[in-house]
Amino acid sequence: MASITIRNLDDEVKDLLRQLAAENGCSMEEQARAMIRAAVEGRAGQADRIDQIERTLRALIGPERQTTPVSVGSSMPSIRGAFSGKRILLIIGGGIAAYKALDLIRRLRERGASVRVVMTAAAQEFVTTLSVGALSAGHVFTELFDRNDEHDVGHIRLSREADLLVVAPATADLMAKLANGHANDLASTVLLATDKKVLMAPAMNPKMWSHPATRRNRATLQKDGIVFVGPARGEMAESNEAGEGRMAEPLEIVAAVEAMLDEKPKPLAGRRIIVTSGPTHEPIDPVRYIANRSSGKQGHAIAAALAKLGADVRLVSGPVNIADPAGVATTHVETAAAMKDAVESLLPADAAVFVAAVADWRTANAAGEKIKKVAGKGPPVLQMVENPDILGGVGHHSQRPGLVVGFAAETQDLIGNAEAKLKKKGADLIVANDVSHESGIGLSGVMGGDRNKVRIVSRTGVEEWPEMGKDEVAARLAALIAERLQTVVV
Ligand SMILES: Cc1cc2nc3c(=O)[nH]c(=O)nc-3n(C[C@H](O)[C@H](O)[C@H](O)COP(=O)(O)O)c2cc1C
Repeated sequence: MASITIRNLDDEVKDLLRQLAAENGCSMEEQARAMIRAAVEGRAGQADRIDQIERTLRALIGPERQTTPVSVGSSMPSIRGAFSGKRILLIIGGGIAAYKALDLIRRLRERGASVRVVMTAAAQEFVTTLSVGALSAGHVFTELFDRNDEHDVGHIRLSREADLLVVAPATADLMAKLANGHANDLASTVLLATDKKVLMAPAMNPKMWSHPATRRNRATLQKDGIVFVGPARGEMAESNEAGEGRMAEPLEIVAAVEAMLDEKPKPLAGRRIIVTSGPTHEPIDPVRYIANRSSGKQGHAIAAALAKLGADVRLVSGPVNIADPAGVATTHVETAAAMKDAVESLLPADAAVFVAAVADWRTANAAGEKIKKVAGKGPPVLQMVENPDILGGVGHHSQRPGLVVGFAAETQDLIGNAEAKLKKKGADLIVANDVSHESGIGLSGVMGGDRNKVRIVSRTGVEEWPEMGKDEVAARLAALIAERLQTVVV
């Protein structure tokens, strides 16, 4: 099956594709696949707009591809030119993930960016300047006191002759240096001397990442305007350890670069929006907890889509196995009570979108020690108490945002329950999704899966959206929020 990366298409094509897909009641990928099939088979489009997209797709596929099966993946020319004329200065730090920087260079260059590379001394222990130079097609900068490069203060030039600086992998050391203003090698000097935007893709052992010093440095850097992509949770390459610290994948970094280079007017610029995402974990004892199947994919995608439209997004995330969205300040919490506190501390805001699947109940008294099996005593009986109602709390808050959006995951009477929730919680919109087995959205269903089929319930009625990828639901919802905020008086 061909894989299509819609996000790599031009915005104009993407918009037309979105419209057509909505009209035909299918996903953007399905629409694109159908049109590529038509283009390959030489069938004419049915309308001007189809012709326009078809011509684009034909051009992207290329003449030699039009008679052979088409695979529209990340290496297709559809992405060519996306970063055309853009200059990226990539700083490679000394971590195991440095090998991924090689793929990143390739991905950036195939999109038309010119990539200059600075490598730290430690980075050269992991990948060679030879490989990096061959892939970037240029000189690799490694020395601050370089007689050839510094006759005209090359480090200042390097830091300025770029549209964007990307640090990947960003080591704990590089983060610490920049957070504290150190400049004792080429990489740190360039980072301190630049007046351009900086994107960091940290990669390190989970213990290094969660160390208070690294957390402090990250908070300082975020305050200074540095944008972060990742790290994600997962297995570490260097040990049998797992946790948060894995570098974002090259394509995730490319997506973050794309968002940072995007200079189009942003309809949500200057708007602060709170988003919650993921499940909550309610402890039973120190090792056991009550959770649910939410993966955070939909909430994180919405946070990313709102950020792409220029919003200052504050994400409050329950425990998930996916990376923080690039450019989104994320607070990590475990329980419903902690999520409520985090959300309320972020008020006032222009809008709030409550996507998290918050546990309705928690145990009345979580045990301080692991509950042991005792022969003859039988299983423990858990007494439950209600969790705080975060959506309802904000919907009726004295600092209520101008627009409050809730999510309702239901297995029965979807619309009835969503309408009741809208009224009770004081929300403006409820995004209702059917999480029953019968929803039939992929094997894994809505929770944990990549697709979603939602209905938007408001006081004026119910709008049904076709089944789409979660990224597409997010983009459409972000556009709807932008539209609504233009008419909301705050
Ligand atoms: C095998 C090995 C793997 C390492 N991996 C990482 C890593 O993933 N992230 C990190 O921050 N530091 C890592 N380090 C430590 C850095 O290499 C070290 O802090 C170095 O001084 C970083 O230099 P730089 O920030 O100038 O690149 C690793 C060290 C070794 C020996």
